[in-house]
Amino acid sequence: MRVDAARLTGHLETLATFSDAPAPAVTRVVYTDTDLKARTYLKTLLTEVGLSVREDALGNLFARWEGADPSLPAVATGSHIDAIPFSGRFDGTVGVLGGLEAIRALKASGFRPRRSLELILFTAEEPTRFGVGCFGSRALAGTLTPGALADLRGDDGLNVLEAAQGAGFTGDAADVALVPGHYHAFAELHIEQGPRLEAAGAPIGVVSAVAAPATLHVTLTGAGGHAGAVLMRERRDALAAGAELALAVEAAALGTGAPDSVTTVGVFDVYPRAVNSIPSRVFLTIDVRDTDLERRDGIVTRIRNDLEAITAKRQLEAQVVVVNADPPATCAPEIIATIRTAAEAEGLVAQTLVSRAYHDTLFMARVCPVGMIFIPSQGGLSHRPDEYSSPDEIAQGVRVLARTLVALSS
Ligand code: GLV
Ligand code: MN
Ligand code: MN
Repeated sequence: MRVDAARLTGHLETLATFSDAPAPAVTRVVYTDTDLKARTYLKTLLTEVGLSVREDALGNLFARWEGADPSLPAVATGSHIDAIPFSGRFDGTVGVLGGLEAIRALKASGFRPRRSLELILFTAEEPTRFGVGCFGSRALAGTLTPGALADLRGDDGLNVLEAAQGAGFTGDAADVALVPGHYHAFAELHIEQGPRLEAAGAPIGVVSAVAAPATLHVTLTGAGGHAGAVLMRERRDALAAGAELALAVEAAALGTGAPDSVTTVGVFDVYPRAVNSIPSRVFLTIDVRDTDLERRDGIVTRIRNDLEAITAKRQLEAQVVVVNADPPATCAPEIIATIRTAAEAEGLVAQTLVSRAYHDTLFMARVCPVGMIFIPSQGGLSHRPDEYSSPDEIAQGVRVLARTLVALSS
């Protein structure tokens, strides 16, 4: 089996040119023209290899290599190609184009799977446009119903279903959910996005579990006014309250003492945003993750209590929306073992680790047994333009994925 690292690097480079940010940064938001052009490029590659392509009402794409026994549940791999603003070129794309390269290499080797193999492009793993991550795979798993998708709106006022239709995905949203058992197994190849593999000198990571993410949207409303005329003791400054809240969010994660507790305020909008005007309203997002569900929920509770104390002290109104609060996912022992064996066959030492980032695997775990293969990220950097994994590291991941697919589909 021959994985062509140079061809794959070329595909990754071309895909990175479909971007709304200047290189080396990549911005590719779901259902934008840029996203649709990138998908068209990908579909050209998929049909070139002889895969049949199906797209659902959300634009989740399934490229199928028919197995010798098409009646058996298929084995799937895949990831996403949407990219958060000003990020890099490897997050998600390695799992999609790497999955394609694995299939190419297997076809060229003369392998014929018994179970069909499907490469999945999940729509919108990133929460950029509609606030919630993984709405494509959430819908596949049946955890986001068409009604719930219609309630998710982006800044332009369109909801997910309207935006999907506008992008040309005209199927019925009621048909998106997969029945449990639809797939025999799912394995996702992804960059680690953290420093642990590089630090350990391990070329391959085998994921044991995916951490539990939660997202809160908070709007704080105080009172605006003249920056010169309103005295300090009369103020109800929404930004000052938001700043206190952001520090409380940081303290809540630090307070557990566990390295796996992480919190981020990534969006902080101020209204009316004028030099000489007291902020009357702020909007902020709170991202909370932990490998331990109880600890994650404890952080959320602490943040909510702190918010109550801040708003009482400063006499503000708070509106809190819990956008998502998901349990962690556990990878299937048999798929972990299969990946480990595949790495060994390639002469590679695999390190077991937990994924602190979330992935579509988190929701595919509700459909079938899952596993994840990680490759090192240089400097542990991700969600930045300088995100990097070398062609050799990517090719090693693809070879391990290909062997894993062989074992799962035979
Ligand atoms: C996915 O990009 C995440 O935020 O974990
Ligand atoms: Mn990402
Ligand atoms: Mn990703």
